[in-house]
Amino acid sequence: MIYLNGDFMPIEEARIPVLDRGFIFGDGVYEVIPVYSRRPFRLAEHLRRLQHSLDGIRITNPHTDAEWDDLLARLIAGNEGDDQYLYLHITRGVAKRDHAFPKGVAPTVFIMSNPLLTPPKELLASGVAAITASDNRWLRCDIKAISLLPNVLLRQMAVDVGAVETVLLRDGFMTEGAASNIFVMKDGILLAPPKNHLMLPGITYDVVLELAAAHDIPCEVREISEYEVRTAQELLLTSSTKEIMPITRLDGKPVGDGSPGRMFAQLYQLYQNYKVTVMRGNTTDS
Ligand code: PDD
Repeated sequence: MIYLNGDFMPIEEARIPVLDRGFIFGDGVYEVIPVYSRRPFRLAEHLRRLQHSLDGIRITNPHTDAEWDDLLARLIAGNEGDDQYLYLHITRGVAKRDHAFPKGVAPTVFIMSNPLLTPPKELLASGVAAITASDNRWLRCDIKAISLLPNVLLRQMAVDVGAVETVLLRDGFMTEGAASNIFVMKDGILLAPPKNHLMLPGITYDVVLELAAAHDIPCEVREISEYEVRTAQELLLTSSTKEIMPITRLDGKPVGDGSPGRMFAQLYQLYQNYKVTVMRGNTTDS
């Protein structure tokens, strides 16, 4: 069951006009929200980031947080599986093709839920391969825009060589992954790039930094040079659907000793524990 512009229906029945500006221009934004035990994880933070993305492209938020909350709850209830991920997609709506904003056009709102398939244990035990590439995206990577062509091409470069992610480098510094945030562990310190217009402010990224702070894991948020990435003891990727994964090969060379390290093991466990606590409702998830 999906939601489209006021109605719930099976995905096979969902239709949008070809003149939707999402289709014509990629003119829209999206969110991906994990759901554990039928409860959306960090909902308030995801809705805040959605607002930031909408503000960034000048679309008025079509719903209040309470309305989003209600729509998402109905979608979770109408789909199978306790663990799901919600995909929210808002475009500038349907209008005759013209780059300039149309007047008086209602945004298109689409939401779907899919099963949340977190990485299997074998992959967490071996770690995954990544490659590096030059970050050739625009300068508003803080907006979660649906126009993802650069990310699609960059991620495919990894897949083409049997790797799972592309670590992006801009002007000698690491920004993020094609579809994830990247952390570096060097000399026992967890390094994270600072949030700015060059990367998506990841919700998982925030959770990892909060967990590090709460458990006295030495941590620095600062620019990370390409050299530091290439000489890291550990590399970690984070996202709402992949949670935390160890990158154990970069551009065909082992990262550290080539197996998942202690920082990964600790953060992964803390993340799983935190999820359980949130799901039980023992703490707020914001
Ligand atoms: N992507 N950076 C980019 C470019 C991303 O696409 C994502 C997530 C992240 C991680 O953000 P978060 O922790 O909030 O998921 C960072 C989602 C999962 C996607 O496009 O499917």
